[in-house]
Amino acid sequence: MKKNSALWILLCVLSASMTVYAHDGCKKMAQMYFSKDKHTFAKPEEAFVTHLDWKAKIVFEERVIKAVATYTIKNVSNATHILLDTKDLIIEEVYADGTPTPYQLGSPVDYLGQSLDIQITPSTQKISIRYRTKPEAEALQWLTKEQTLGKQHPFLFTQSQAILARTWLPCQDSPGIRITYDANVNVPKDLLALMSANINPTEKNFEGNYHFKQEKPIPAYLMALSVGDIGFKSVGSRTGVYAEHGMLAKAAYEFAEMEKMLLVAEELYGPYRWGRYDLIVLPPSFPFGGMENPCLTFATPTVVAGDRSLTSLVAHELAHSWSGNLVTNATWDDFWLNEGFTVYFENRIIEAVYGKSYAEMLALISYQDLLEEIEGMEKKADTKLKLDLTGRNPDDGLTAIAYDKGYYFLRHIEQTVGREKFDAFLRGYFDKFAFQTINTEQFVAHLRAELLDKVPNATNWIDINAWVYGEGIPKNCPKVVSEKINRAIEEAKAFTNGKKAHLIDIKSWSYQQYVLFLRNLPKKISQERIAALDNHMKLSSSGNSEVLFVWLSIVARNEYLSGFSKLEEFLLSVGRRKFIAPLYKLLAENERTLVFAKNVYAKARPNYHAVATQTIDQTLKWDAK
Ligand code: BES
Ligand code: ZN
Repeated sequence: MKKNSALWILLCVLSASMTVYAHDGCKKMAQMYFSKDKHTFAKPEEAFVTHLDWKAKIVFEERVIKAVATYTIKNVSNATHILLDTKDLIIEEVYADGTPTPYQLGSPVDYLGQSLDIQITPSTQKISIRYRTKPEAEALQWLTKEQTLGKQHPFLFTQSQAILARTWLPCQDSPGIRITYDANVNVPKDLLALMSANINPTEKNFEGNYHFKQEKPIPAYLMALSVGDIGFKSVGSRTGVYAEHGMLAKAAYEFAEMEKMLLVAEELYGPYRWGRYDLIVLPPSFPFGGMENPCLTFATPTVVAGDRSLTSLVAHELAHSWSGNLVTNATWDDFWLNEGFTVYFENRIIEAVYGKSYAEMLALISYQDLLEEIEGMEKKADTKLKLDLTGRNPDDGLTAIAYDKGYYFLRHIEQTVGREKFDAFLRGYFDKFAFQTINTEQFVAHLRAELLDKVPNATNWIDINAWVYGEGIPKNCPKVVSEKINRAIEEAKAFTNGKKAHLIDIKSWSYQQYVLFLRNLPKKISQERIAALDNHMKLSSSGNSEVLFVWLSIVARNEYLSGFSKLEEFLLSVGRRKFIAPLYKLLAENERTLVFAKNVYAKARPNYHAVATQTIDQTLKWDAK
């Protein structure tokens, strides 16, 4: 039996023994079990989905997915309706236990889409929705063959987090509602399909029919699909990489340490529960660095630096197999529970694989990110760990607060109680809440009961309120020292005070040192000095996307025209929002560079994913029509 339904039945039996009316009891249990999520139309306290059977045909010519989604449901309140989320879906027919049933699409709400209200009876077991997607479905990116590396075949990939799963699958799109799934997907022959599933193919078949199974219950934001001329290369007994063929060897080299990371992660916080751990390197328009789709991390090619220097991204996405995918934030207001824990876990993996000095370097960068984010933040309330995203897009919560303030909070606890106790606590946390969700309040209660109350004076040191519900960086925030980073910052200060570029000692600098050096330079630098820096540090020709990004920010901000062809090339070839959105923003700051930005954007926009264009359209006041 599926773990979540087993848990559910246990809860209902418990509640039935407490109340006369089992269903009312179940409803109460459901109300307790599901945190109120304002980013879904679903009402899981009445009826929720537990398993999905998805049959889909991927039609590249029309940029459409035609599918039937059949859900097994659990009705906890004798409900006569079940509510799903949709956005831009064309619903064709809906069935309850095989018979057509009335349904209604609600009126569209900004970024939330439309509710799909399906009529059921208290005994309905299954609902089926026959539907198709629209070409502009936000989660989907359809690439023409010219937009791929191989240039022979088109490509499709999804990005569902936070609330875009509903643009390609009618679903209860709330992180608290988990489903297992089976899928049968038909794609053009010559293409391979992959999903966030524990059974994934490694080779194409002639019919283009692929079967998938995810046997662990996952929330809708972890539903994922990728279709293209994709190959596979194993890098360990449970690990491997997928990529377009031209990228495969490079990717396998870059991520050769995946298996080691997996072993280290298990050593730290217990067994990996998802079977295989593979990674797919997507085309450059993938809008994020990485996405922790279960069993199959989606990654940007901008981390394939050629020298394994950016593999902390793998540590991060792998860590989500515990923090996020196993123990999931109940709502997007609790997003820090996903990301803060993951940054902490990532850092521990890095420490175990590459050593303390490397990990401390990353930790200090995380602190710098946090300072920068807080400085630039418009709304002070957004510097709280626990967010209130009422009436806002959950995307607004995607800031360094969740990641880096979250990280420092956990590090502060670790340092206060000692690593041994903290590790034992975390292992217990992942076990206790495995395949469940947790909100901030539940976490705080658990933290007190299982850790802080057991350590004398711990609560005197750890001001939970200030960390979780307060603004900014609390007192007692751990101080991190990194010799290497300090040296880079020192050099930045020296340069600012007039030291000549060619005298800066960059021998054996890591890319992180370049990044921190560049980030600590003054906003305005003379053209001659920028040229001297480029000449000495070979910045324009750096193969490291992180270095290139900060360098090009300097180019844009200072209108250093010799760097503009590289800037244009970068904007045309990279779709990762973290890089391109800030660059367009800098360029939009004055009229001259704004003209340049708009020209480049006109060419680049068709290559970007909707997640990126939505942000940049606003920055450039772009009229999408
Ligand atoms: N889950 C996130 C990406 C995400 C968050 C997508 C919220 C949509 C909404 C992923 O794990 C992540 O954090 N990616 C980072 C890289 C990481 C190394 C910090 C990114 O994409 O930059
Ligand atoms: Zn993450």
